[in-house]
Amino acid sequence: MLQDLSQYILDIAENSLKAEASRVEIEVFEDTRGDLITLKVTDNGYGMDDEQVSAIENPFFTTRTERRVGLGIPFLKQASDTCGGRFEIRSVKGRGTVVEASFKRDCIDCPPLGDIPATVMTLMVGWPERDFLFRFNFDDELFETGTEELVQVLQDRSLLVTPEVALWISRYIEQGIYHLRTGGNEDFEENNQP
Ligand SMILES: Nc1ncnc2c1ncn2[C@@H]1O[C@H](COP(=O)(O)OP(=O)(O)OP(=O)(O)O)[C@@H](O)[C@H]1O
Ligand SMILES: [Mg+2]
Repeated sequence: MLQDLSQYILDIAENSLKAEASRVEIEVFEDTRGDLITLKVTDNGYGMDDEQVSAIENPFFTTRTERRVGLGIPFLKQASDTCGGRFEIRSVKGRGTVVEASFKRDCIDCPPLGDIPATVMTLMVGWPERDFLFRFNFDDELFETGTEELVQVLQDRSLLVTPEVALWISRYIEQGIYHLRTGGNEDFEENNQP
């Protein structure tokens, strides 16, 4: 099992990248009223047929050749099952894949969110030629950003890989999530000195 939800996000998004997705959407839904956390990763990669989808939850299924056991998806499913959540993979061969996993927040084994800003930044900076879209939903509020938006601000895609920009991206996402959580009433800079 992985330590926190951001590690699962990285794992699932890496599957999308391996599937040659040019666009990966990462969504987190934090629903305090329904007491649920949901992760959803949507890609436009090469997808899977029905047979592959039903086999994917079985740890002995993988298209990797160097070892027979693929564990990313089974781990996520197990973690979500343990926490009374729902787990679903929908895929269309040649079109793309959606992986969705939810967790009851009050479950004692519910993994913490972890460092989601750093994870999203790692993906954006690590694969600058792909487009990532990140959405964080906190009840009815939404924070959204993505590679396309950031490139528009930077006016140069190659700047994505510079350390200053990487730091700025994770800080920007951290701030976005913080404002959602606090209803925009708290001063981020004052409470989060680097
Ligand atoms: N988004 C996706 N698009 C296409 N195929 C996928 C996707 N996600 C998973 N798969 C297929 O399901 C298999 C199992 O995925 P899983 O993440 O469980 O293991 P893995 O990626 O093979 O290995 P590990 O995650 O342990 O490094 C993959 O090898 C791949 O064939
Ligand atoms: Mg994997």
